[in-house]
Amino acid sequence: MDRRKFIHVAFTNLGALALGPQLSSAGFGVQERPQQENGTRQPSSSSGPMGTTREIDLVAEVAQFEVASRGVFERWLYNGQFPGPEIRVQEGERLRVTVKNMLPEGTTVHWHGIPLHNPMDGVPDVTQPPIGTGETFVYEFEAAPSGSFMYHSHFGFQSDRGLVGPLIVEEKKAHIDYDREYTLVLTDFLPGVPVPLGSATSGGGNAMGMQVPPYVGLLINGRPPEAPAVFSVKTGERVRVRLINPSGATIYRFAIGGHPVTVTHADGRPVEPFKVDALHIAPGERYDVLVDARNPGAWPIAAQPDNDLPPARAILRYTDSNELSPREGALPEGLTGGRMLQLADLRGLNLPEPRKPNRTFNLALSGGMRGPGGMMGPGGMMGTEWLINGQAYPNAAPLEIRQGETVRIRMLNQSAMPHPMHMHGHFFRVGNVIKDTTIVWTHTGHVELDFIANNPGNWFFHCHNLYHMEAGMGRLIRYVSTE
Ligand code: C2O
Ligand code: CU
Repeated sequence: MDRRKFIHVAFTNLGALALGPQLSSAGFGVQERPQQENGTRQPSSSSGPMGTTREIDLVAEVAQFEVASRGVFERWLYNGQFPGPEIRVQEGERLRVTVKNMLPEGTTVHWHGIPLHNPMDGVPDVTQPPIGTGETFVYEFEAAPSGSFMYHSHFGFQSDRGLVGPLIVEEKKAHIDYDREYTLVLTDFLPGVPVPLGSATSGGGNAMGMQVPPYVGLLINGRPPEAPAVFSVKTGERVRVRLINPSGATIYRFAIGGHPVTVTHADGRPVEPFKVDALHIAPGERYDVLVDARNPGAWPIAAQPDNDLPPARAILRYTDSNELSPREGALPEGLTGGRMLQLADLRGLNLPEPRKPNRTFNLALSGGMRGPGGMMGPGGMMGTEWLINGQAYPNAAPLEIRQGETVRIRMLNQSAMPHPMHMHGHFFRVGNVIKDTTIVWTHTGHVELDFIANNPGNWFFHCHNLYHMEAGMGRLIRYVSTE
């Protein structure tokens, strides 16, 4: 897309904003937004004939972030918070987010999981030019369907500097009952500047030569294991827990001591409740679970990574019990045993009849070594390139589809690392669930997903391991017209 088209798109958007019916009651869009003490702003809303529009301000900025006793780190954050502020709206409301870029480089925001209008998708140079330093950009879209989502920068490695946050779209009527709810954002924490793996300053590798970024810890809601977040419950309550993983590169095994969890939503979409002791959650995935508080005490909540770091931790604390924290070092039994969720356990609610695909893509996911001048670069530098059918994005052919088609993508993992593959702009069906991100496990793991081409545009489809994505593991899905 050329610059002219971008300007046209931006102008069209502004036009829509200026003429939107919601503005008639909102005083030409100039709104009072109460300032909170911490400098962030509360959402405000206005009603119009088309429903409510939520106004949110996000400032992407360089900020100081304190990790308990470990010190203060310079991070790039939304509104100075890590994770970024929870954006919470009602299904069907419009969300209008004004993003101001105070970073020293361009940025964009992606609304991960929401099948919105293509120009609002926040992929730099695909759906919009980056928002320049000092500039603002207004994202506006309908917050639908309901579910647990997330937002993050989609520019380079910025999300691993801290530009991530939860986005909750509350359902009008849930298929489950509960007494309270919590959001748990699982993140890997990088104190420095993220760089491609394989460059001189990146982290160490493991035996397979598969590198992991130099994370120093795993956090739940921005808190390290030694100063964990505490989630209070009362005996007899049923708690909804929204698990959200915007990590750069970590897949977790999640469990709660003394409590099985009942999975109720996968990537925001409702499923028939299914009880397990533990589940895997990969970057880009979300699971909602219910916890029945029938086992008074203080229990470990933990997320064990697929790397060498100690697990992320939090505490489930009964307010009607005298115990304040779990026994030192105690971990949930579900981390080492018990019933582990398999995707095949889940069944989406109101699943449509499967349709015969009109078009099928077979994609091989693989890793390959690269370096200036072959396998090994100067100084022994070695890098991994992550490929789909032998091609590394952006030097990769788009997957071309036509509106109205049912498209099948079959993926085969020929590498030694799992790949959480995420599709923009569409939900897909995998097994009997509707999701937008799904793990393709290692060594000939394979996954078949189907989606309906009902949202024209150019959409990114990629591994949500940031380091794999940035090393080529992505493709554009492009709608072509029938001529
Ligand atoms: Cu959260 Cu392109 O992704
Ligand atoms: Cu990957």
